[in-house]
Amino acid sequence: MASSEILHVGIDLGTSRSAISASNGERFVVDSFVGWPADMVAKKILKRTVLIGHEAVANRTMLDLHRPLERGLLKEGSDKDVEAVRELLRHLLGLVGAKKNGKVDSSNVRAVVGVPAAALRTNKQYLRNSMKGIVDSLMIVSEPFAVAYGLNALLHTMIIDIGAGTTDFCVMKGRYPTEEDQRTLTIAGDSIDTHLVKLIEEHYPQANVTLFMVREWKEKFSFVGTPTQRANVVAPVKGVPTELDITNEIKAACETILPPIVETMLDLLSRVEPEFQERVRNNIILSGGGGLIRNLPKMLEDSLRQVGGGKVTYMEDPVFVGSDGGLALALDAPDSDWERLSA
Ligand SMILES: Nc1ncnc2c1ncn2[C@@H]1O[C@H](COP(=O)(O)OP(=O)(O)OP(=O)(O)O)[C@@H](O)[C@H]1O
Ligand SMILES: [Mg+2]
Repeated sequence: MASSEILHVGIDLGTSRSAISASNGERFVVDSFVGWPADMVAKKILKRTVLIGHEAVANRTMLDLHRPLERGLLKEGSDKDVEAVRELLRHLLGLVGAKKNGKVDSSNVRAVVGVPAAALRTNKQYLRNSMKGIVDSLMIVSEPFAVAYGLNALLHTMIIDIGAGTTDFCVMKGRYPTEEDQRTLTIAGDSIDTHLVKLIEEHYPQANVTLFMVREWKEKFSFVGTPTQRANVVAPVKGVPTELDITNEIKAACETILPPIVETMLDLLSRVEPEFQERVRNNIILSGGGGLIRNLPKMLEDSLRQVGGGKVTYMEDPVFVGSDGGLALALDAPDSDWERLSA
C-alpha cells in the first residue's frame, strides 16, 4: 500500500465525548452516545437504524441508549456495548471521510486510539477485537500519553487528565510509558455529578434535580477553595421554579476529587528518580474537562509545597489535544509499532 493512500487518524475514545483528528486535516468531536430505535414506533418516526452523538441524546426517549465506556472501561459482557463502540468508531471514521462507495473503508486506515490507562491494562484484547474490520492497523495507547505526545511534553513531565469517567495520570520519561508510570482513578466529572445531586437533595429535600441539570450547573460554577461568586440556580420545588444557592454544594462536590488526586500525584512523584523529581514537579499539566474547575491548579500547587513546590498548568483547548496527539503518534510511528488487524 502506498503511504500516500494511508489515512492516519488519532482517536480519543472518551466516556462523555470522543474526538478524531485525521491526516487529511479533518477533525470532529461527538458525544459518546449510541442508540438504536427501541421498537417499531420509534423506527417509524426516526427512519434510521442507529443514532450517534447529540442526535442520540436528543432522541433518547425513543432509543435503547448506550454510553459504552462507563468509568473508563469498555463494558465487557454486553454485546450491545461492543457494537456501540464499533458504531461510534465507524461514525468517526465516516466523518473524516474514510469512505469508499458510501461505506466506511477500513483497508487503508491506521488508527492510534487513546483510552483510559486502566482500560489499556484490563480491556486491551477486548478493545482490539472490537476494532477488527474497522481499521487496518492499530495502536492502543493511554489517553494521557496521547496528550503528552500532542503537547510535545515527553520528558520529565506529568499529565493529569480529568475526564468524565476517569482521572488518568502519566509520568513521561522520554519513552513509551510503562505501567508503573501510569495510574487511573475512577473519580472524575461523573463522580462529582453524583455527589452534587446528593448534596443538593440533602440541603433542599423538596427540590427536583437531575444529573443532567447538575452537570450543567457544575460546568458553569465549578470551583475549589474560596468562592469568588455565588452559584444561584433555578430548579422546581414542588413544581414551582425556585432560586437555590448551591455554592457550598458545588464546592464540596468539586473538592471530593482533591484528596485522591493529590495522593496519587505525590505517590507517582515519589517514584521518579530523585534527581528528576524537581523537573517533573515543575511540569505538571492538567487536561480534560475536569481540569477546568476554577482554582484547581492553585490547590494542587499548594499541596506540592510539602515536597518542595511545583507548577501546575492547564491547557486551554482540551477538546482535540488527545486526538491530535494520537495523530502525531500515528504519523511518527514506524511500521514495527503497529498491529495489523486485517493481515
Ligand atoms: N467548566 C467545567 N468545570 C468542571 N467540569 C467540567 C467543566 N467542563 C466540563 N467538565 C466536565 O468534564 C467532563 C468531560 O471531560 P472530557 O471531555 O475530558 O471527558 P472524556 O474524555 O469524555 O472522559 P474520560 O477521559 O473519562 O473517558 C464531564 O464530566 C464534564 O461535566
Ligand atoms: Mg478523556
